[in-house]
Amino acid sequence: MALIFGGASPEHEISLRSAKNIYAAIPREKYEVHLLGISQDGNWYHLEDDFFEKNGLIQDLGKALAIVPGQTDRPFVFLEGEGGMPKVDVAFPITHGPMGEDGSLQGILNHLRIPFVGPDVLGSSVAMDKDVAKRLLREADLKVAEGMCFHYYEKDAIDYLAVINQLGSPVFVKPANMGSSVGVKKAENKAEFDLAVKDAFKYDHKIIVEEAIIGRELECAVLGNAVLATSSIGEINMVEDTFYDFESKYESDTAADLNIPAKNLDDQELAKLILVAKNAYRALCCEGLSRVDMFLTEEGAVYVNEINTLPGFTSISMYPALWAQAGTPYGELIDELLQLAMERGARNAGLKRLRL
Ligand SMILES: Nc1ncnc2c1ncn2[C@@H]1O[C@H](COP(=O)(O)OP(=O)(O)O)[C@@H](O)[C@H]1O
Ligand SMILES: [Mg+2]
Repeated sequence: MALIFGGASPEHEISLRSAKNIYAAIPREKYEVHLLGISQDGNWYHLEDDFFEKNGLIQDLGKALAIVPGQTDRPFVFLEGEGGMPKVDVAFPITHGPMGEDGSLQGILNHLRIPFVGPDVLGSSVAMDKDVAKRLLREADLKVAEGMCFHYYEKDAIDYLAVINQLGSPVFVKPANMGSSVGVKKAENKAEFDLAVKDAFKYDHKIIVEEAIIGRELECAVLGNAVLATSSIGEINMVEDTFYDFESKYESDTAADLNIPAKNLDDQELAKLILVAKNAYRALCCEGLSRVDMFLTEEGAVYVNEINTLPGFTSISMYPALWAQAGTPYGELIDELLQLAMERGARNAGLKRLRL
């Protein structure tokens, strides 16, 4: 198997942290692991087994790879010198954000005929795009925050008063395609809003503005292709007066607490959250795994905030922790994900859609 990590997105470092944990947990009696690192400038490298002990940059420690699509026994060849990385029967891309989680990397793996962990191209891309995802969720009768979407060509016509007239105040401003709260801002007045819009457009040509949902922030781990398994529900508790921004996700020990499982949810609320998580997973064409992030309001309404198709696997990440709590240790979880990937790979290979 190939563990693919890094990438050119702002979530490069998060991916490295996730990959280090996954690498340590892969059952070695079942899988021979090859490390494929993508540098911050997007180049692909083969890395030695001791990469995670070395603390160096991918491009400094790896051997640059060229990719050969099609029916080949040598999909990864070294750019310099002889040889390459062996062909693998499955890949685990633990790459977050644009170019890693949005279907583009998944498309490359399809061309290389390598089955991979996580949703296929379509699920990956629609879940990544918050505007498209919300339209599909709404169509599946799931609640999402009311919002507005603006493209780069409408930038100059964005009218703050019209926005708060429709959505109230404060609002959340986000790039349509990003993750880890990069470019996400809460705005309470025009000055903050203008700044937030300007910032969000640095990351995408399309942004969304949403009403602020007041409620508990809850997450569910979903796993499966034909049959879905769900974990219990985890909760993000904001200790400091902020939202779940990049700093509180990864850089502060005190800003947010994870409660696994969430406390004080009655059976009805639990059942509702789990049903919404499964329906959202299906609505966005997910397979393999995804983490479904929701809000639960005081009135008992469940909103889907977003779906992460390659959620964090760091030591403090919710997805593996939810499964550990459910009795599935990290190594078994990785094994199950790889099996699901190979199962889908075999299913795709059985289709008559290509002349192979
Ligand atoms: N509409 C909203 N109402 C309340 N809080 C929100 C809303 N949208 C986002 N947030 C807060 O911002 C965080 C990041 O937003 P999110 O949409 O999950 O972006 P990302 O994909 O970067 O994680 C959420 O975890 C939540 O704390
Ligand atoms: Mg999020």
